[in-house]
Amino acid sequence: MSQAESIADRLPGASQNVTSLQAHILAEERRHPHASGTFSWILSALALSAKTIAALIRRARLEDVLGSMGSENVQGEEQQKLDVISNEVLLRCLGQRSGVAIVASEEDDEPTILRTETDGERRYCVLFDPLDGSSNLDVAGGVGTIFSILRHHPEAGSPETSILQAGTEQVAAGYILYGSSTVLVVTTGNGVQMFVLDPAIGSFLLVEEEVRIPARGETYSLNEGNRPGFPQGWQDYLAWAQANGYSGRYVGAMVADVHRTLLKGGVFMYPPTGKTPDGKLRLMYEANPMAMIVEQAGGKAFAGAAERILEVKPQTLHQRVPVLLGSVEEVDRVREFVA
Ligand code: AHG
Ligand code: MN
Ligand code: MN
Repeated sequence: MSQAESIADRLPGASQNVTSLQAHILAEERRHPHASGTFSWILSALALSAKTIAALIRRARLEDVLGSMGSENVQGEEQQKLDVISNEVLLRCLGQRSGVAIVASEEDDEPTILRTETDGERRYCVLFDPLDGSSNLDVAGGVGTIFSILRHHPEAGSPETSILQAGTEQVAAGYILYGSSTVLVVTTGNGVQMFVLDPAIGSFLLVEEEVRIPARGETYSLNEGNRPGFPQGWQDYLAWAQANGYSGRYVGAMVADVHRTLLKGGVFMYPPTGKTPDGKLRLMYEANPMAMIVEQAGGKAFAGAAERILEVKPQTLHQRVPVLLGSVEEVDRVREFVA
């Protein structure tokens, strides 16, 4: 074997074709003969934002951008400096793409209207949670970015009406996990693909073309400290899971907890509590995109026992919803207890 060949053997994905996110997006575009490329540009802006945020997070302690801003977001939650910086990165990267009509962020009170022209060009609304699990930053824990893409309907009148679409209308959704590696998971309604950032070359490389969630998994993931406030059915499920040898796993960052559930199976929950009857997680920025990913991977996602998260009709941009998602068998079991 020549030296060149043995070096080539050590390249990422040496045993298969190396596919970058960019190449994947272009290949997807070719499958849709009428695609204008607009949508691809949006995904590439999200990838660019992800690389920027990943780099910022890695150096956060060194550059003294950890800790709180001393302000609260619209949800009344304390904002970390990096919440605000990540939000800015996404707004800038997406703002430059002509195909983005409106962006809405968990951190902002109101959506940002970028373009309202009705010139026939198809445009999109991009919703995001810029930095999910940001309270983990101080301890170098996993954090993430979650995004959801909807078609813009200029005829809807107000931007808010254009955005308030059920999760079933999402044209794409995904998340980036900034963990021990940076992972991008995305769906455009055609299965779920997973990419890992190769920091040496600055590209997201395809590592799994068709992610499937295991049908079962003996792990539950939730904030057990809230247990006394859960409605009885949820408490009964927990007692059942513990009596049956289930493990508990909880990072406290939805992206990290859902990612583990997606790959290893099990169930992730943020149930209602007496104090928060709709739980904590936000429908438009967290629950809908994660539900699309999980369903596209063959799992289930419910807002309690009866209603699919994706079918919840949003009333307001920042509304919350109880979340129950993961492996088919585990989600169904929780639903039996909760019903
Ligand atoms: P964010 O940092 O975007 O506000 O989201 C935090 C969310 C989510 O990531 C996680 O699943 C949940 O809050 C954890 O909440 P508890 O601390 O109440 O368990
Ligand atoms: Mn979040
Ligand atoms: Mn957040």
